[in-house]
Amino acid sequence: MISIENLHKKFGKNEVLKGIDLNIEQGGIFAVLGPNGSGKTTLIKSILGMVVPNSGSIKINGKSVKNDWKYRNNIDYLPQIANFPGNLTVRELIRMIKDLRSYKKADDLRLIELFKLDPFLDKKLSNLSGGTKQKVNLVLTFMFDSSLIILDEPTTGLDPISHIRLKELITSEKQKGKTILITSHIMSFVEEIADEIVFLLEGKIYFKGGIPALKTKTEQPDFEHAIASILTTSYV
Ligand SMILES: Nc1ncnc2c1ncn2[C@@H]1O[C@H](COP(=O)(O)OP(=O)(O)OP(=O)(O)O)[C@@H](O)[C@H]1O
Ligand SMILES: [Mg+2]
Repeated sequence: MISIENLHKKFGKNEVLKGIDLNIEQGGIFAVLGPNGSGKTTLIKSILGMVVPNSGSIKINGKSVKNDWKYRNNIDYLPQIANFPGNLTVRELIRMIKDLRSYKKADDLRLIELFKLDPFLDKKLSNLSGGTKQKVNLVLTFMFDSSLIILDEPTTGLDPISHIRLKELITSEKQKGKTILITSHIMSFVEEIADEIVFLLEGKIYFKGGIPALKTKTEQPDFEHAIASILTTSYV
């Protein structure tokens, strides 16, 4: 579904992606992991065409994403930091995003119910708590029925109940055959839902595969220690 070849991205002198080769097959949950600043968001934004790489190619379903924006219509994206216009109400924002993507069917009511957002619909976005904003962000992302879903830190600020709802939501989307790309620093969340992980380190893919294979590679009995062992080795 996504095929990336030799992707390079520099911001000034800062070489963030130094030759990424990555194939993501259709169907399943793929977690992109790596320390702060390792380029996860940059990689995601490159897939979305929001960051222009210096070289390399990105193809979605065999078609290059370069100079073609239409492919984005079929991707639902949750940004790591959403800058909402604070003077709008939740209801107005949902309406606005539905209007912008009016060519797609939107199922916002189910999600408003799932995240118990009814009491907040007429509140201004600037007055919402961080976690409630994130739930609104999730509604905006999941209300369209796209085959590729990209979630940059979806758990940020969520309370335990919402966390469980999010996991159920992601799993039910996967069951429809969708491809879901997620970044997260919450290892228990990743371990519970991811089919495969992609670990970015120093601009390259350090590891791609299942969690059992990572445990074998790092000779660690549990996932969190496996990840920690990569990080401590790379920091020394
Ligand atoms: N627009 C930009 N201009 C300049 N530098 C940038 C820009 N976007 C990202 N960077 C730099 O690129 C590097 C990778 O950033 P990125 O946001 O992709 O990391 P990340 O892996 O998503 O980190 P985090 O876990 O903190 O979300 C960082 O050094 C960051 O400062
Ligand atoms: Mg990021």
